[in-house]
Amino acid sequence: MRVAVYSSHPYDETYLSRANEAAGHDLVFLESRLKPRTAKLADGFDAVCAFVNDDLSEPVLEALNGLGIRHIALRSAGFNHVDLEMAGRLGFTVARVPAYSPHAVAEHTVALMLALNRQIHKAYTRVRDGNFALDGLLGFDLHGRTVGVIGTGTIGQRVAVIMAGFGCRILAYDPYPNPLCVDLGVDYVELPALFAESDIVTLHTPLTPETHHLIDADTVALMKDGVMIINTSRGALVDTQAVIDGLKSRKVGYLGLDVYEEEGDLFFENLSDRIITDDVFSRLLTFPNVIITGHQAFFTAEALTGIAETTIANLTAFDNGFASGNELDLG
Ligand code: NAI
Repeated sequence: MRVAVYSSHPYDETYLSRANEAAGHDLVFLESRLKPRTAKLADGFDAVCAFVNDDLSEPVLEALNGLGIRHIALRSAGFNHVDLEMAGRLGFTVARVPAYSPHAVAEHTVALMLALNRQIHKAYTRVRDGNFALDGLLGFDLHGRTVGVIGTGTIGQRVAVIMAGFGCRILAYDPYPNPLCVDLGVDYVELPALFAESDIVTLHTPLTPETHHLIDADTVALMKDGVMIINTSRGALVDTQAVIDGLKSRKVGYLGLDVYEEEGDLFFENLSDRIITDDVFSRLLTFPNVIITGHQAFFTAEALTGIAETTIANLTAFDNGFASGNELDLG
């Protein structure tokens, strides 16, 4: 199968090529992001392979359909960037990678919590500058604190396990409680109670119309003063302006983000010689108690291996006309 692999970086090529050795698909690695202007690069291919910031909205799907593309292999678990209704109407098959090292994202989530709490980002530069003063680096014991986990699927459950290991009390909200969390002693509560009692609120839900701006001015107001908010799921779960206001009023004491609402124009590229024109993002960077990473929570060798192997298995299933089980329900 000829596959146009959009948004490719050298690491994608390394891991996908290795996973493809036995399958032998003809993978062509394109640096371009998939968007209306670049859809035509898929001319002559059977399938496209896309990542989280590729555009799979109606105009792109129509363009791909016009080129005879039938299959879309997502290299991600999340699929909020796909117009599912249109994909179904045009007869595409869309498969994703439902699970790959949940440990990668869960461990990065905890890395953000620890770095923010113990001010590792400040300590790193201070010590390199010969400044060994401790003022401003005061942290708190995680032991005995309350962590609110919103969304206890594959990743949220791992976060609950790790934080329970620190001796934290774990509260959770999920419309479908996870039996593994119940066995761990996690208390499922409604969102207002979770916000009122948690020292740390961490988000692990997919982005859906229901979860869009789950964290906004109203929900920030329900939280404890000085709360830590962590988002390693999808940027639009958080109303960025609302958390900026919360940081300015000191209601929000710490903010750790691996995802950002408007990350499509920023993340995964080296923009160090450009001027960032997103003033909201630039404002976030000015706070000493904010750490932002550029959508790297998934970025471990184990996760890249898992993503590549499942993506190749999905392409092989497309090629042979059978279901891999990873296809999205397009209605
Ligand atoms: P999952 O599907 O295993 O779990 C999601 C959980 O969210 C489910 O238990 C579901 O019931 C729950 N949920 C759905 N709607 C909810 C709502 N309104 N309120 C509370 N809970 C709700 O997904 P998984 O694998 O745990 O991934 C979670 C998210 O993490 C993904 O959707 C994706 O957006 C993000 N992610 C981020 C990565 C990164 O590199 N930063 C990498 C991989 C995933």
